[in-house]
Amino acid sequence: MAPLTLREFSVYGMFVLMFAAILYGRPPVHAKNFEAAFQGECREDSPCQHLCFDLHDGTFECACKEGFTLSVNGYSCIENSKMKDRINWTNSSIWMENGTSIEDFFDSDDIEKIHSVHTINKGHPESLSHTFDEPHPERNHIQLNLDTLGKDEKKRTHRPISYEHLYDNSAGRSLNSLNVHASEIPSPSKTDNHIDIFQPMNTVVVSTPSVHQIFHSCSDLQCESGGICVSDSKSKHKVRCRCPLQRSGTFCEQAVQAKYPRFREGSYLALPILRDAHKSMQVTLEFRPEANDGLILYSGEKLDLQEDFISITLNKGFIEFRFDCGMGEGILISDQPVVLRSWNTLTIYRDRWDAWMQLNSGSQVQGRSKGLFSRITFRLNLYVGGSPNISLVAERTQAKSSFKGCLRHLAINRQVYDFRPRPKGDAIEGVDIDECSADVCSKVTCLNGGQCVAASPDYGVCLCPLGFIGDQCETAMELIVPLFNGSSYLQYPGLGNTVLSFIELQIVFKPYRPNGVLFYNGYKMDGTGDFISLTLVNGFLEFRFDLGTGVAVIRSEEPLDVGVWHTAFISRTGRDGILEVDEQKRVEGMSPGAFTQLSLPLNMYIGGVHDLRDVARKASITESFTGCIQKVIINGKTLKLVDDALSGINVANCLHSCVEEPCKNGGHCEPRMDYYSCHCHLGYAGNNCEKEVTEMIAEPMFTGASYLHYMDESIVKRIRGNKIDIRFKFRSFGPSGLLLWSGKKEMSTSSDYLALGLHDGYLTFQYNLGSGEVLIVYNSTKLDDGKWHTVRAIRVEQEGSLVVDGGMRATGASPGSLNQLNVNNGLYLGGMDSMVSLSMNKYHSGLVGCLANVTLSTDYHIRLITHATTGINIQPCL
Ligand SMILES: *[C@@H]1O[C@H](CO)[C@@H](O)[C@H](O)[C@H]1NC(C)=O
Ligand SMILES: *[C@@H]1O[C@H](CO)[C@@H](O)[C@H](O)[C@H]1NC(C)=O
Ligand SMILES: *[C@@H]1O[C@H](CO)[C@@H](O)[C@H](O)[C@H]1NC(C)=O
Ligand SMILES: *[C@@H]1O[C@H](CO)[C@@H](O)[C@H](O)[C@H]1NC(C)=O
Repeated sequence: MAPLTLREFSVYGMFVLMFAAILYGRPPVHAKNFEAAFQGECREDSPCQHLCFDLHDGTFECACKEGFTLSVNGYSCIENSKMKDRINWTNSSIWMENGTSIEDFFDSDDIEKIHSVHTINKGHPESLSHTFDEPHPERNHIQLNLDTLGKDEKKRTHRPISYEHLYDNSAGRSLNSLNVHASEIPSPSKTDNHIDIFQPMNTVVVSTPSVHQIFHSCSDLQCESGGICVSDSKSKHKVRCRCPLQRSGTFCEQAVQAKYPRFREGSYLALPILRDAHKSMQVTLEFRPEANDGLILYSGEKLDLQEDFISITLNKGFIEFRFDCGMGEGILISDQPVVLRSWNTLTIYRDRWDAWMQLNSGSQVQGRSKGLFSRITFRLNLYVGGSPNISLVAERTQAKSSFKGCLRHLAINRQVYDFRPRPKGDAIEGVDIDECSADVCSKVTCLNGGQCVAASPDYGVCLCPLGFIGDQCETAMELIVPLFNGSSYLQYPGLGNTVLSFIELQIVFKPYRPNGVLFYNGYKMDGTGDFISLTLVNGFLEFRFDLGTGVAVIRSEEPLDVGVWHTAFISRTGRDGILEVDEQKRVEGMSPGAFTQLSLPLNMYIGGVHDLRDVARKASITESFTGCIQKVIINGKTLKLVDDALSGINVANCLHSCVEEPCKNGGHCEPRMDYYSCHCHLGYAGNNCEKEVTEMIAEPMFTGASYLHYMDESIVKRIRGNKIDIRFKFRSFGPSGLLLWSGKKEMSTSSDYLALGLHDGYLTFQYNLGSGEVLIVYNSTKLDDGKWHTVRAIRVEQEGSLVVDGGMRATGASPGSLNQLNVNNGLYLGGMDSMVSLSMNKYHSGLVGCLANVTLSTDYHIRLITHATTGINIQPCL
């Protein structure tokens, strides 16, 4: 894809980039709205058409007022009643520079769906007046005014036309030709490939497409996306498009996700051939009929259903179940009629030649088929709602028409069908299937940017953004220790390519139920591909991963108790995986095949997933987690469960001491299983940071989880560059710990840094100037004796030396030719923030002890407390 450059880098420019990123990214069209998080924060000039809410992580999301739905572009709002209409091109323009094509802008997989827009943009601006593939001048014909993009353009509101606008327009077949009215067409100027789609204020639409169009001949009606023009069963003089699965609309131009299918005249859905149903079968069906007649379901051996078959037909309001084992059919007729326009439940049980049926709360009806055979052979698909050729099956099913209405549940034997197309769902094919829940959200108001989604064909529920709870997301709360209730999740940027060959994850959690997914990150949305997951399965903890050639399943030896905190640790190196839980024996496993790399571009989930059917099937995830999660550490980096999340749904606070905010004076509460510890700011101490430290601390004490951080330029300039000379006193009560660190804000193995610390009682001096590390160990004596020691560390370019208490000198030199220390993250003393990840696993704890008299460049004395930018858990030395 060609790079997208922007003429104007404004908020909107930024937005266009985000917009493009969303379109390039996957999933494109059907992306759930709340996944569209934008960079920045809510302000008056945010692109949100209606409502804006901050996600508190430097991103925000848009939402719409009641009666409106957020467009897939994530910011504009479409009136619900207009959702199905064509959105007209009022005040819209398309302008593109020479050589740019729409493919540069849209994901190529979606080109088909925006087919006519795609065609116009094949060429130069001049060819915008060019007619589409097959012009239909008598059909809605749009004229756009294109203005030159002069200097004044900057004053205009630049608003990208949403994908839907483009899409719906093209879909409406209204764009058969695009006549450019402007006298001047902007001449291609910049050399960059450039696309600018915006809505200028003062253009005129000459004609807009009508919404309901009637076609009389297939030569006038062009069906898209594999739709077929057929004559309308209701009127011999009309034609219409028969749309394949996932398509709807006059031209099959609309995408539909039929989770709860709606059937109309001529619709049907094909599900796979029934297995293990020849002898006995149990069918449960929940349906909402809109008419008293129709074919609900059938399957059998032959296309015309001669010999073996079963069928369920609605006939004058009564349900008829027919079955034939090959020697004559049996018929069961419900004892009462169905209730139109409400949900009916039907159960049928057949055991060989006997059958029982019950409709709603009616009584059980019994029947028997004729003859000696007791088995039914199924060779046909299971057809639901109708048939590809209803006249062929009419004789045996006694159905004259297809079923009209909705279906929300179908289970046969143990299989509950998912009506979406394969591979996500079970549907093999289908015709004219709409979604039943299409308008349920028009009645639901979600506050604070909550998003309504269909929980069933009848009602929508609010998915609340992080920090809000309640049916309408009306209650604000500060999230501290997340609680997941089985319908919740937290969503983070995916691990991408950061864990290709290695990942280590630690998680502290308390389950309330023995099943549910704790952690998931995948590669594809279609149920296949690489993934990594950690799931509770009947109380056992299961660590799974698939590198593309088969899944590794590593399962704890013992089940975990519910209602108590557990610590799990998983790691994967290449194909090898390890799982450790609490005090249980560690379990190891290996993935099959030759692949050793794990690529995880999709979002990462904690505590649940957005849609169980979007995850890799081999992860065997059946439900979301119920319980609390207090800590997640990935490759040494602590995930900020709330602040790092892109979004989250139905996450409340766990019952935990930290939720009561026990740490005073701004101290940070860190959960420690059932307990907590407070990290106090400089000037405060005590278990709950309640004590004010008034005395001047000349000799600060560090607890192992403390640090002092200096960003002061007069200090930092004496650390970086080509030399350093540092003197200080310290005493340590523990064998290991970080004394001093200076490095980068983002560390990688080749990043510059300089560190002093204790390892097993020995003082070490380490640095990397960009061309390799040196480790100088002062090995003549251990220094963790609790006594004061004086250290002098000197580095002159690559050469370093270390002297303790005026004794021998340990020396070393860093490799390579680089001789300057380039750091940008100040100086840390006694420990640091995110220690494991920033020190790249060199240090796991800070100093347990005291520091004093720190001097740089022989004469610059650091006033340890007053110079500090921040300090955590600092007290006077004992
Ligand atoms: C449907 O079946 C009837 C009756 O067998 C047959 O005449 C007709 O051609 C079939 N139609 C299609 C579209 O296959
Ligand atoms: C989880 O919480 C949400 C929001 O409070 C609620 O709507 C939903 O019913 C709950 N789900 C379960 C399984 O309790
Ligand atoms: C200390 O380090 C020096 C230099 O690396 C080495 O030659 C010496 O053997 C070490 N001494 C001990 C006691 O490990
Ligand atoms: C630090 O220096 C001061 C002034 O020279 C001295 O009084 C103090 O004892 C020193 N601290 C330590 C721990 O040696």
